[in-house]
Amino acid sequence: MTDMRQSQIFRTSKLEEADGPGLNPTATATMGDIIAARFSRRGFLKGSMATAAIAATVSPVALLAADEAKAQSASRFNFPEVEAGVDADHHVAQGYDADVLLRWGDKLFPDAPDFDPTRQTEAAQERQFGYNNDFVGFIPLEGATDRGLLVVNHEYTNEHLMFPGIVTMQNGEMVVADATEERANIEMAAHGGTVVEIRKVDGKWQPVLDGALNRRITAKTEMQLTGPAAGHARLQTTADTSGRKVFGTINNCAGGVTPWGTYIMAEENIHGYFTGELPEGHAEAGNYDRLGVPGGSYQWGHFHKRFDLGAEPNEPNRFGWVVEVDVMDPTSVPKKRTALGRFKHEGAESVVAKDGRIVFYLGDDERFDYVYKFVTAGRFNPDDRAANMDLLDDGTLYVARFDEDGSMEWMPLVYGQGPLTAENGFDSQADVLIETRRAGDLLGATPMDRPEDIQPNPMTGRAYVMLTNNTRREEANAANPRVDNAFGHIIEILEEDGDFTATAGRWEILLQCGDPSVAEVGATFSTETTKNGWFGMPDNAAIDADGRLWVSTDGNSMADTGRTDGLWAVDTEGDARGTSRLFYRVPVGAEMCGPCPTEDMSTFFVAVQHPGDGGEDWEGHGRVSYYEDLSTRWPDFRDDMPVRPAVVAITKQGGGRIG
Ligand code: FEO
Ligand code: CA
Ligand code: CA
Repeated sequence: MTDMRQSQIFRTSKLEEADGPGLNPTATATMGDIIAARFSRRGFLKGSMATAAIAATVSPVALLAADEAKAQSASRFNFPEVEAGVDADHHVAQGYDADVLLRWGDKLFPDAPDFDPTRQTEAAQERQFGYNNDFVGFIPLEGATDRGLLVVNHEYTNEHLMFPGIVTMQNGEMVVADATEERANIEMAAHGGTVVEIRKVDGKWQPVLDGALNRRITAKTEMQLTGPAAGHARLQTTADTSGRKVFGTINNCAGGVTPWGTYIMAEENIHGYFTGELPEGHAEAGNYDRLGVPGGSYQWGHFHKRFDLGAEPNEPNRFGWVVEVDVMDPTSVPKKRTALGRFKHEGAESVVAKDGRIVFYLGDDERFDYVYKFVTAGRFNPDDRAANMDLLDDGTLYVARFDEDGSMEWMPLVYGQGPLTAENGFDSQADVLIETRRAGDLLGATPMDRPEDIQPNPMTGRAYVMLTNNTRREEANAANPRVDNAFGHIIEILEEDGDFTATAGRWEILLQCGDPSVAEVGATFSTETTKNGWFGMPDNAAIDADGRLWVSTDGNSMADTGRTDGLWAVDTEGDARGTSRLFYRVPVGAEMCGPCPTEDMSTFFVAVQHPGDGGEDWEGHGRVSYYEDLSTRWPDFRDDMPVRPAVVAITKQGGGRIG
């Protein structure tokens, strides 16, 4: 397999579902690649079991169209459901507006050049909105509801959708030309994050180009490593003998906004950016194997030797962290907070516990990897922002074990405790944090079906874990009860006494996802859920100001579910528990990221990621999609403009609270 081929696979939304290795050697299941086909919707409907399965299990209500379904009063949501399906555009519930706020290439500063896709430069991209928006957070300025900072992660780049003239089709296969140095640098500038002031004018949000706090963070921005692993020899390189100064952040998936108003960027699939080979017999070989380093999906290492393992064997240890950005100072140096561990961080949503400590929930998005949380040692001081600025450097990281009886334990990852000793190759807390996954293995953490976003609900003391899928699972456990789990599930954690710092709790499965009309899928949506309301592959989540759960998805497609990804409202309480409704859906090929409701529920920001990346299974395109032959040109629909990832602001027509 060449670099390029890997790169194409990597840069689809389904990296982990494609050919990625099962990286947890302690997990039992590695079944292979045959399952996706089996679970395709078409496969089911053709199957001889299909009719009998539907007849045996489906509630008539589940098959009703949205407008026919009874909106039972038990639901806490009230909006007309969008019809599920696939097309080139996005769709929001009737009575709402979905306005594009920021697109890839949009200016973020008064002096930024206008976006010209045929004349991209690194310098221009550094002043423009980056690619593939994922996490979205909103930080009000001076308590205003109509003015604030939008913080947005730019997770990765899709070169075949971004650059003209680099794709050739050979025997139906897409071949992408090798990167030039300039292209690699544009890609690096399109990664990272954006901080931009936005303001509501006449009821519509717009970016404020001369906002004093606007900034771009890229794969080259200077950052500081802090916390227990900072300065460790394993973090030192020829360019940085201190082990404390690193350039850039990559593959920032989800993230968070802390109670003190900083922006959290989680580094997820960092393996893909490294190329080359470790020197023979190098001590980091096992560490890197566990993370799939080097993934070889990008060619940056050809031009920037730090991404080449042969030249700079410690560089991968400087990625895979949680990054904290002080957005109130546009010159601040972002901090990689090593106390929160190093793995494929999906996100880092936080909550203030009863005693004032802050708890961060952390998913490690790989098949058979783990659920974590971090509890700060210090307490949040709501009256003194400065006093909170280094809370993330001191605390305890825990990994979860979900037991068969519905109980669970949060096990501390602390050097010297249990197996985390020199006997197992850990000589300090730094070693435990650099190899967090191996520490979790030794403690007997529960291998999960790809933990993504984990959303605490401050009103209930519960937290919701998105488990997106795992088609390689051949042995179920109680918390991951389906083998060949193509559609994922959501676990609800009930912390003991509703205390987020608790080291024990209970858990139950809120939802097994997938089509409830196909018995073999085993989906558990309530019978109130319509044919539009069910979904697969939960990825991100939000709890709104009323304590209600919203779930966004990654991986629904014509082939898998007959629908695009989208944003669903999910009831968690009372008789309506397990009822889901479709509120917004993305254009063909896209994934739905960043659901971010504002505190007053007047706006829901959502991120449409990698639109147009796909369309083979959709009759509207029916072939590979790339710059010169796109499945959609959303959101501009102009012949001279490619498809562009974008952040969308959803508001209620005439104003008012959403949902
Ligand atoms: Fe970047 Fe786990 O999604
Ligand atoms: Ca994600
Ligand atoms: Ca979230």
